[in-house]
Amino acid sequence: MDQYAVFGNPIAQSKSPVIHQHFAEQTGQQLEYGAQLAEISDFKSKVAAFIQSGGKGCNITAPFKELAFELSQSVSEEARIAGAVNTLIFKGDYIVGDNTDGRGLIADLKFHNVPMQGKRILLMGAGGAARGVLLPLLAENPQKLIIVNRTVEKAQQLAELIDSPVKICGVGYADLADKPFDLIINASSASLSDQLPPLKANLLNKDTICYDMVYRAANTPFNQWAIDNGVETTIDGLGMLIEQAAVSFEIWRGIRPKTSALRQLLRDQLLRAA
Ligand code: ATR
Repeated sequence: MDQYAVFGNPIAQSKSPVIHQHFAEQTGQQLEYGAQLAEISDFKSKVAAFIQSGGKGCNITAPFKELAFELSQSVSEEARIAGAVNTLIFKGDYIVGDNTDGRGLIADLKFHNVPMQGKRILLMGAGGAARGVLLPLLAENPQKLIIVNRTVEKAQQLAELIDSPVKICGVGYADLADKPFDLIINASSASLSDQLPPLKANLLNKDTICYDMVYRAANTPFNQWAIDNGVETTIDGLGMLIEQAAVSFEIWRGIRPKTSALRQLLRDQLLRAA
């Protein structure tokens, strides 16, 4: 049977095996998907051993996404801009790297009927998570994409890296004009440490859609802040997790699984565990 796996450290908490086994059952695909713990020192040799044992592909999570990028003999444009790979495809010994986070984010935004074309979008953060979603966001043709980051230079450098017809610029939080955005995406890691980026409330109104790429049972600090300031639609990153996996699955197996049932299942699990 075709073998797949997710590599990470820690890995026990990963939902990827459950997600991919669900996709396999739903689409009638014969495959096994496991979890592999690695260290920085043995990540590359463990991937090589996985290929030798018949592995067809794998997902990569923290802290190995940059190492997976190095390991890849060719990469997608998204992975190149991100400098990070979350999906490896093995064609014999030849290793292709892709990054499905951005396509996963867009699929989740579309699942929630969030319009992007012609809209003003604010992307918070300029680290790996923000870099990973930049190209697919621009492909939706927003009117303007502003990258805002605590360290302004990183936002500016990221904006300069991109060759796009969409207006894009990198700024600091203090530089943001007091005009509401249509969509604000939190790609900073602030929520992971229960922090809130220094945002002013006049950057949103009730129609602004706020999206936090982090998910948890309760509202993230950013989404709670948005709700407290009158925003009607907030979305967290659980759907993005599922959709980026669906994109990986499609790359490997040529069939795109449906995500509705799994969304409900994982949300229920999350709430029960809280
Ligand atoms: P990731 O891979 O999750 O993107 P990263 O590459 O370490 O992690 O990047 C973290 C991002 O979150 C950075 O853009 C960081 O801002 P700085 O570049 O200024 O460090 C941002 N970040 C982290 N904590 C933050 C906070 N409390 N407020 C605003 N931005 C924060």
